Amino acid sequence: MELILPANQYRDSYIDYIDELGREERYPFPMDFDYSDFEKMLAKINDFSKGVNLPSGFVQSSTFWLVDSGALVGVTNIRHRLNKEIEHCGGHIGLSIRPSYRGKGLGNKLMHLSIEKLWQLGVDTIHIHCYKDNMSSARAIISNGGQLISELPLEYKVVQRYLVTRT
Ligand SMILES: CC(C)(COP(=O)(O)OP(=O)(O)OC[C@H]1O[C@@H](n2cnc3c(N)ncnc32)[C@H](O)[C@@H]1OP(=O)(O)O)[C@@H](O)C(=O)NCCC(=O)NCCS
Repeated sequence: MELILPANQYRDSYIDYIDELGREERYPFPMDFDYSDFEKMLAKINDFSKGVNLPSGFVQSSTFWLVDSGALVGVTNIRHRLNKEIEHCGGHIGLSIRPSYRGKGLGNKLMHLSIEKLWQLGVDTIHIHCYKDNMSSARAIISNGGQLISELPLEYKVVQRYLVTRT
């Protein structure tokens, strides 16, 4: 199992992943990019990682794919820095595990690898947010050192805000 940069060789597996998600909300946000021209999507992801051609309100962020035996099994997106709005709600890390691979410890592993990427980028205090009713996400944050610092009630859900601090 390894964390790689998005690559054309996983095109079919990416599409299978999206198909598996069905109507489920897609995380992290690059999974909402149009993938009909796959090379174009990869170029867009690459632009985000360099902080170029960003839409207003977005910050530089890197996407990595967790792959296992030729299959794409997870996706993470790591923001290099936060703006005020994203520090308020959003945080540094968005990730998901492919539905058929969930509940096997991969969410914990991908969270760990994402945090390590942020350490490497020099981010010492990591903000991670999740919906309060997303038990597996909250558990993965806590298991990776997340300390709950506040809860933000939205109109329809409560967002929990965690910090992971480098020791
Ligand atoms: C959140 C998500 C990444 C977790 O991935 P996963 O591979 O299922 O997680 P793991 O198997 O590593 O489990 C992580 C923790 O959640 C617990 N858990 C797993 N499934 C659970 C469930 N259905 N209900 C409650 N807890 C659960 C595990 O026991 C584990 O707890 P521990 O760390 O205390 O041992 C995955 O469910 C997912 O992709 N969800 C949709 C996208 C999403 O919500 N992303 C987060 C917001 S950006």
